[in-house]
Amino acid sequence: MIEFIHVSKDFGSLHVLSDVSLKINDGEIFGIIGQSGAGKSTLLRTINGLEPINKGKIISDGKDVSKLKGIELRQYRQKTAMIFQDFALMDTLSIYKNIALPLECAHLPNKEIEARVQKLAQMVQIQDKLKAKPRELSGGQKQRVAIARALALNPKVLLSDEATSALDPKTTQSILALLREINKTLGLTIVMVTHQMEVVKAICDRVGVLIDGKLVQVGKTDEVFLAPYSSLSALVPNETLLPTTGINIKLFFPKSFSTQDFITHMARELDIDFSIAWGQLERFRDDVLGELIINVSQENYRKVLAYLQQAKLGYEVIEK
Ligand SMILES: Nc1ncnc2c1ncn2[C@@H]1O[C@H](COP(=O)(O)OP(=O)(O)O)[C@@H](O)[C@H]1O
Ligand SMILES: [Mg+2]
Repeated sequence: MIEFIHVSKDFGSLHVLSDVSLKINDGEIFGIIGQSGAGKSTLLRTINGLEPINKGKIISDGKDVSKLKGIELRQYRQKTAMIFQDFALMDTLSIYKNIALPLECAHLPNKEIEARVQKLAQMVQIQDKLKAKPRELSGGQKQRVAIARALALNPKVLLSDEATSALDPKTTQSILALLREINKTLGLTIVMVTHQMEVVKAICDRVGVLIDGKLVQVGKTDEVFLAPYSSLSALVPNETLLPTTGINIKLFFPKSFSTQDFITHMARELDIDFSIAWGQLERFRDDVLGELIINVSQENYRKVLAYLQQAKLGYEVIEK
């Protein structure tokens, strides 16, 4: 378990993390979602001790992270691996050498290194690229290499900092599927920092919403996403972050509507499932109280439109 106990972190006068308390369970995929600058990367780096904290405590695997030194700190970091948006591969080294790097640093015998690299390459499906250089690989393949390297020393925890943010949607899904598989087969705890709601929805068991360094909501992913006007609505909709499957419809709620009632009724009357992709309580226009973007499947699309028209609710289908 990784436990944050009233953790605060400042950079000079800037409060980057404010009184964060959180428990991340062993074996779960925990998402931390928030806008750029919210403090996500900083929070992630406090877990492996790369970022010292000003207040509070982080207990990971039974150890007080800020008290670790020397060999203990090295061992702890080996068990807490990390992957990044830009992959952080060594351009001049072959894929084999990139994966072997942590094993060589740990002074393992060559025979063992070779067997381990082969096994890892197989796990992430890049066996046929071991002789290539990073520049010969696609983004998705590079991230696979980075994942293999991160897993080299059998970590217990994998920290992922926007690992899919530079990838196209299809590749993103394949990397997420790989992470899910690793989580299941190795029992690895994964902490995923991201600004992409899709990533959280796809694989996170639980999610925490970080806004300006404060953890404003923590819960099971579906509960956090399905609660209309949850703290996620503070994350401004960047329409490129909306779900890429199904159809996104933006609803405008005038003062006379109770959003919550309307949504509940619609779901019940049409007997369909849909998800709320984004919501905003206030819109400074005279007759608009709220906006909500819902995501419906292709097959339910007509039904939903008919319902909205009959209810005389303003809506807008968001073009992809
Ligand atoms: N080493 C640093 N020194 C000073 N300010 C920093 C440093 N690292 C991050 N910050 C600031 O802390 C805030 C949070 O950064 P970061 O954790 O990278 O956010 P996120 O990953 O959510 O985009 C930002 O305002 C950023 O400019
Ligand atoms: Mg970041």
